[in-house]
Amino acid sequence: MIEIFAEAIWLILPAYIANSSAVLIGGGKPIDFGKKWRGKPILGEGKTWRGLAGGIICGFISGIILNKIWNLFGYGLSSFLIILSLSCGALLGDIAKSFLKRRLNIARGKPLPILDQIDFLLGAFFLAFIVNKEWFLSSFTIYHILFLLILTPILHLVTNIIAYLLGLKNVPW
Ligand code: CTP
Ligand code: MG
Repeated sequence: MIEIFAEAIWLILPAYIANSSAVLIGGGKPIDFGKKWRGKPILGEGKTWRGLAGGIICGFISGIILNKIWNLFGYGLSSFLIILSLSCGALLGDIAKSFLKRRLNIARGKPLPILDQIDFLLGAFFLAFIVNKEWFLSSFTIYHILFLLILTPILHLVTNIIAYLLGLKNVPW
């Protein structure tokens, strides 16, 4: 049980790091260059090139380091591709979610509960599966996936409540 939890967290850390670095590094030119589609922003101002590039690079580098400590991503070129797919997948999931939110008329920064919290997880699972099915299916069992789908929104809530208590946020969600 504990082993599954530990493995699951380690396996998804490149995606977690990619996603949070994008928030820290982000800013500047939006990916959609401020363009609209059918009167609505394509992605909105919250998805920037700097966030995208910074997130992918930080996720990739941290994955390489993690793999040296606990080798769960394999070896050589194949491990590079797996780690890259997890960090790119995380940001693609986030971008796809923003695309969907704009289509649903939800303004940039306004919440879309659950999907806002697990978008990057779904993206990372999806791209890693596409890039290396064999590795994905032998690394992630349904238990790993369920654990991460449940843990992530809880973690999100807890960090937001802490940020609220510290006075960094105005609302505890
Ligand atoms: N960010 C970025 N580039 C990305 C992803 C995130 O610059 N590719 C930064 C932006 O500053 C963004 C912040 O991280 O505002 C938080 O990301 P997120 O919550 O995904 O974006 P929102 O601003 O809430 O916009 P959306 O409604 O589209 O989710
Ligand atoms: Mg948001």
